[in-house]
Amino acid sequence: MWDYSDKVFDHFMNPRNVGAVENPDGVGEVGSMACGDALRLTFRLDAEERIAEAKFQTFGCGSAIASSSVLTEMVHGLTLKEASAITNEDIAKELDGLPREKMHCSVMGREALEAAMIDYYKRLGRDVPCDLIQQDTIICQCFDVKKDTVREAIFNHRLETIEDVTNHTKAGGGCKECHHDIGDLLRDCWDKIENGEDTGTVNSEANSEENAEAKTPEEGTGGLQALGTMASADSGPQPVEFKPEDAEIVGRIQELLDQDIAPNLHRDGGDIEFVRFHNNNVFVRLTGSCAACRSSEVTIKTVVEAQLREFVSEELTVIEVSQ
Ligand code: FES
Repeated sequence: MWDYSDKVFDHFMNPRNVGAVENPDGVGEVGSMACGDALRLTFRLDAEERIAEAKFQTFGCGSAIASSSVLTEMVHGLTLKEASAITNEDIAKELDGLPREKMHCSVMGREALEAAMIDYYKRLGRDVPCDLIQQDTIICQCFDVKKDTVREAIFNHRLETIEDVTNHTKAGGGCKECHHDIGDLLRDCWDKIENGEDTGTVNSEANSEENAEAKTPEEGTGGLQALGTMASADSGPQPVEFKPEDAEIVGRIQELLDQDIAPNLHRDGGDIEFVRFHNNNVFVRLTGSCAACRSSEVTIKTVVEAQLREFVSEELTVIEVSQ
């Protein structure tokens, strides 16, 4: 059984705002009934253009019901701009957390909200303000790969497995936490392919290059924040991406890298750069001679990860990222 919070149970057992808003200003629908996960969100604005009422109808599991229910409460009284800042992580946080395997339910909530806002502007015949709609969801935090990038790769290359997706986009090639979401996306895309729905243009090297660019973790933030300029071991200080609550552990990792690990690599003409910290995953880039070294994987595991686990936390996993 999943480990649900009391709040998830509460919203599942007593869902708020179920149904459809009468004469809605915006309607958003995501998911597919065939997959067993679908959500319809409707809202109405008041005279001050704040969300006066939001309701949902869902065909999904308890987490989908709880996520939708709490979302309708979260958006109440907000302007569309304020509502657009709500992320799926905010939804999960409001529920005091969701099991990792159920995070996609919160993603569905955020997507339905976004779809409803887009619908609102379309009904008015107005352009959707760029800053209103969030950046495309990051599906793989390890490699900063967007959901659209993976969707496009699946359609364009008719990818069938998570391994295929990893080979094309790098998504899923790290901690594997995103495998569930990639699996869902594969099913969703293949439903569309088999139903003969529009699945985009089958193409192209250009897209592949675009995907390759999108996957470098140092671009974009993937929901993380680049705080300060903790000196990396490379030339000049580079900001390490991490969440504010991880500042202390990031500082300890940086200290160990700078004072013990990097000096050892320097002796062989190599170096190491701390790129990002997320969910106890330490993303590093080897540079200098280490970058070209065939045994870089061994260095990562037996030197970097072993020392970080011994002196900082046994929970840490070190993942090498490329340029
Ligand atoms: S989140 Fe995708 S591999 Fe870690």
